[in-house]
Amino acid sequence: MTEYQTILTDQKNRVGIITLNRPEALNALNLQVMREVIEAAQAFDRDPEIGCIVITGSAKAFAAGADIKEMQPNTYMDVYLQDWFSAWDRLAEVRTPTVAAVSGYALGGGCELAMICDVLLAGDNAKFGQPEIKLGVIPGIGGSQRLTRAVGKAKAMELCLTGRMMDAEEAERAGLVSRIVPAADLLDEAMSVADTIAGMSLPIAMMAKEAVNRAFETTLAEGVRFERRVFHAIFATADQKEGMAAFVEKRKPSFQHR
Ligand code: CAA
Repeated sequence: MTEYQTILTDQKNRVGIITLNRPEALNALNLQVMREVIEAAQAFDRDPEIGCIVITGSAKAFAAGADIKEMQPNTYMDVYLQDWFSAWDRLAEVRTPTVAAVSGYALGGGCELAMICDVLLAGDNAKFGQPEIKLGVIPGIGGSQRLTRAVGKAKAMELCLTGRMMDAEEAERAGLVSRIVPAADLLDEAMSVADTIAGMSLPIAMMAKEAVNRAFETTLAEGVRFERRVFHAIFATADQKEGMAAFVEKRKPSFQHR
């Protein structure tokens, strides 16, 4: 496996794990972290033996944001010409399902990274927020868009305009996270969800992900049409034949990921 400086990677069965590992900066997302997370996620995405990717941090911080000290000296021309943070779009383009396991702080870019993932599990100690306004900036990795789609305008406005953090309970009520689990069990639960996903047919899981994501990009009529066409196409796969045959024969399916 590739050597990384700011993340740890691991593989358990069909699950790839990326752990942010800059404890001295509460996993602040500097450009190196960004490059390494994306490279690791793309490598897992290319690997047909990986059916789900878990992204996590430490007990205290998933990630406390983009790296403020790295950003501070930059000019408009620096960030414009380097098109800062656009590389995170590569993570959103990963086709393998992703699970964010959030313990502690998920602030600014940390909240945005979690929201790029497909499933967001929170430890009961998780804290989410977009505090950029307190630094005289606004979210820059999609927070104003993904948070608004997740929790609606009023709460997204309040969080982006005041910089207030919300706890795990509020985040679950608002629809930002799929589930809260005791912080001590977070990684086990995330691995269990990831194992379940990775046990499905990989191409069908990719198509399910693509269909759900289409809901954010298009009208209802177009989205429903897209879903129907994908649904039809699935009848050309071996795994649809296997999945339905297994149900009828009262046995567990053995997916070939084809
Ligand atoms: N960037 C760089 N360094 C950071 C950081 C960040 N986002 N967050 C924390 N750190 C560093 C601190 O500077 C500190 O380093 P030193 O020991 O060298 O001083 C170390 O991590 C530990 O942090 P604290 O001492 O502050 O820890 P704490 O427990 O007292 O507070 C915290 C925790 C409330 C999360 C606090 O660290 C904090 O407010 N962090 C900044 C949060 C923030 O504003 N995030 C948004 C960043 S901007 C952004 O993300 C833009 C975007 O959308 C792309």
